[in-house]
Amino acid sequence: MALFIDSSEPKEIKDLYAWGVISGVTTNPLIIAREAPDADLGERIREILAVSWGDVSVELTTETESEMLREAAEYHSWDPARITIKVPFSETGLRVLHQLAKRGVKTNVTCLMAMNQAYLAALAGATYVSIFSGRVRDMGYDVRPVIAATRDVLDREKLPSRIIVGSMRHMMDVNEALEAGAHVPTVVPPILRKMVWNPRTIETIAEFNNAWRDRSNARKK
Ligand code: E4P
Repeated sequence: MALFIDSSEPKEIKDLYAWGVISGVTTNPLIIAREAPDADLGERIREILAVSWGDVSVELTTETESEMLREAAEYHSWDPARITIKVPFSETGLRVLHQLAKRGVKTNVTCLMAMNQAYLAALAGATYVSIFSGRVRDMGYDVRPVIAATRDVLDREKLPSRIIVGSMRHMMDVNEALEAGAHVPTVVPPILRKMVWNPRTIETIAEFNNAWRDRSNARKK
């Protein structure tokens, strides 16, 4: 079981890694375009590598097999042990994935909405298969059976791919992904912070600390 952070903000990633609960980073072109539109991708990813540990997913943005393989080779060279090539799922994506898997490059097959897609990615050698919770729900479907069916087939066939569930919109999505069988939820920082927060916890801690501060008054009463 693991938890990844879905962000490209080095400062945020560093702060959240200090909690000791995160063991990998996922990025995608949209996240980087929003968070750092002018950044040099290589510099940004090296900054992330410097403040984190574990696998760091970087997504391919080209669309032909040869371009994708060239792009993957460049990203892989930044840190061969940790860079995980995020391969968008398609027929071309499967060919690229299979080439990378044969070379021992870590891969994360992304934009998956269905178990059949995740199964194909797993057969072709994906290290991770990424199911998009929020985007499945946007289409009006329940993502939990997709995650559960994917987990069942991977376990039954003894396929080593691990299921990442991303595209989280609410804290409940994280709970439901875990219950349905996700190996690795990847969460954006605001949702991770909500996982800590509970009003009754805050109230209880305040009650204990106030009692400790006021203990001499309490004895006198
Ligand atoms: C993670 O790996 C995905 O790229 C990300 O969670 C997608 O999220 P979105 O559907 O909010 O764009």
